[in-house]
Amino acid sequence: MIKLIDVKKIYQSGVIALSNINLEIKKGEFVFLVGSTGSGKSTLIKLLYREEIPTSGKVLISGINVSELKESKVPYLRQRIGVVFQDFKLLPNRTVWENVAFTLRILGVGKKEQTKKVKAALELTGLSEYSDFYVNDISGGERQRVAIARSIINTPPILLADEPTGNLDPDNTWEIMRLLTKINAKGTTIIVSTHNKSIVDTMKKRVITMSKGSIIQDQKEGEYSIGTNN
Ligand SMILES: Nc1ncnc2c1ncn2[C@@H]1O[C@H](COP(=O)(O)OP(=O)(O)OP(=O)(O)O)[C@@H](O)[C@H]1O
Ligand SMILES: [Mg+2]
Repeated sequence: MIKLIDVKKIYQSGVIALSNINLEIKKGEFVFLVGSTGSGKSTLIKLLYREEIPTSGKVLISGINVSELKESKVPYLRQRIGVVFQDFKLLPNRTVWENVAFTLRILGVGKKEQTKKVKAALELTGLSEYSDFYVNDISGGERQRVAIARSIINTPPILLADEPTGNLDPDNTWEIMRLLTKINAKGTTIIVSTHNKSIVDTMKKRVITMSKGSIIQDQKEGEYSIGTNN
């Protein structure tokens, strides 16, 4: 499903953010990406949804080399990949419903279909009662659930979450992790970058550890490594 072959990423500034990345992630996997600040986690995630392009090497999503994808085809890739960030990136001054429905509106999906999909996403994320709340008026944990509902509205096969609980307290962190586990159980491949040792150690998922732009460890039912200091 996801394959990186000899991937290297050098930013224009000259910083080598990734080198020698070889990685395969199968359909339905749940993967934690860990490593200290600047180790390349966000860069790796950005390559997957083509926010960045590798300097050399290949990034394959379902056999498609994303760096060779025509600009006009990028929206199709993005529909197949949900993305969630630490700072939620919601539309302010809009309701929960409007935020979750946003992509469907852009895609010109009919009203009836929109209603069906948004309802299902709100139900899955436990937000049905918040539908008319403005996102400015809800808590951080609830906002992240809105962002997740929005990201999975088209049931993408892949969900990427870059430090999704970085701004949340432990209770909300666990709630988000339970939600991601539920989405994973429905068949979605999930990649989560995090600095949170306790969730990684408790969840016993695959753990990929990065250091200075390289993968230094790849454990099947892993733990947050000693090799990283935060
Ligand atoms: N747009 C950019 N231009 C230049 N250098 C960048 C850019 N984005 C990231 N970098 C650099 O690339 C390296 C990897 O950064 P990246 O953001 O991928 O790390 P990270 O593991 O996500 O860190 P953090 O845990 O702090 O989020 C760092 O040295 C960073 O400064
Ligand atoms: Mg990062």
